[in-house]
Amino acid sequence: MHMATYSKGLEGVIAAETKLSFIDGEKGVLEYIGIPIGELASKSTFEETVLFLWDGHLPKAPALREFTTQVRDRYELPPALEAMLTSLPKTAEPMHAVRTLVSALGMFDPKPDAIDHASLRDKALTILAVVPTILAYFHRYRKGMALVRPDKNFGLAENFLYMLNGVRPTPTMARAMDVCLILHADHGFNNSTFSARSIASTESDIYSAITGAIGSLRGPLHGGANEGVMKMLNQIPTVADAEKFIVDKLTKKDKIPGFGHRVYKSYDPRAAHLKSLAEQLARDTGNISLFEKSTAIEGVMNREKAAKGIYPNVDFYSATTYHCIGLPLDMFTPTFVIARAGGWSAHVMEQLANNRLFRPDVDYTGPHAVAYTAIEGR
Ligand code: ACO
Repeated sequence: MHMATYSKGLEGVIAAETKLSFIDGEKGVLEYIGIPIGELASKSTFEETVLFLWDGHLPKAPALREFTTQVRDRYELPPALEAMLTSLPKTAEPMHAVRTLVSALGMFDPKPDAIDHASLRDKALTILAVVPTILAYFHRYRKGMALVRPDKNFGLAENFLYMLNGVRPTPTMARAMDVCLILHADHGFNNSTFSARSIASTESDIYSAITGAIGSLRGPLHGGANEGVMKMLNQIPTVADAEKFIVDKLTKKDKIPGFGHRVYKSYDPRAAHLKSLAEQLARDTGNISLFEKSTAIEGVMNREKAAKGIYPNVDFYSATTYHCIGLPLDMFTPTFVIARAGGWSAHVMEQLANNRLFRPDVDYTGPHAVAYTAIEGR
């Protein structure tokens, strides 16, 4: 007898247990291992947050120092990986580049298939450290600019902006980047995390799991939405045009990027934090019109869609924030990869600590007992 129930898009299906992040979609709560996201965003650093997710407790000072040093020691790419990077098409999207190079990184690991906890943690550390370098190098390579080598004196967020732009970011910009990474580090069983855990559940390697997750994240319904938001803001000439633009789109039944969420039916707490960050950065960098267009869009969406539980998600105000930090448009979603590499890795480790292969069922809706027609007779 077939007992399975069908849920399109797996909505409402609990497919695993996690101790990493908790979401209450009705109340707009997100916690990493019990700590509200706002607390971490205002008090922690990205490195500390990742170590917290990996080890399950806030690190003491020596452990954090050791972890930070280990990450900084691994910023640089293997020379052969760099050679591979500088032979990619310059027209490639950075998301394709980072997906390809994380996959390739596995070939430089003498034991890519080791999935005991210590090995996974070690590999995750390398992935965490090199993703910003891959992205910054690829960006400078495609623009014909000399690569800027990582500086071990800088934390991960600051070093990323330094390698990308060739100048040390201001403390405000470095901290804003760090906060964005904390806010994006983990988020329950989102599509890319599920992809990573699903791949890991086959006892495949962590490089494959993270590569698959990157492929998932780039979709416009997932992490790719932050680029969609920026493109939309660019299409709206002035704040006064926002109302008509959104109403026209809604009339055509188009979805507005940066709004709506499978789990949140109230305000995404990450969006709340990013909204104030975006406002401050927009004022500091002369981009206040971007912020004003965003709040105008939010006002229209609030009037038209709040009753349906559609509010800004993490991607809505991250677009303005990333623009003000100086990230090129097509580096928005790749920057999400830097952050989520921490969360994906934590989930791969959690999955393999208590593994069961993911293998859902599917409803077959095709025909049965069809006669095979020889090719001449078709
Ligand atoms: N704009 C307008 N209407 C929307 C939006 C939106 N952004 N999102 C959902 N709706 C409406 C749908 O049209 C649908 O209306 P209907 O019931 O009248 O047909 C209803 O809300 C439910 O939408 P679904 O797409 O079925 O909800 P689902 O849970 O599958 O989708 C998703 C969630 C994919 C995030 C959706 O809200 C969306 O496409 N948003 C825009 C893309 C986006 O911002 N993605 C980033 C999400 S956060 C992240 O992944 C990092």
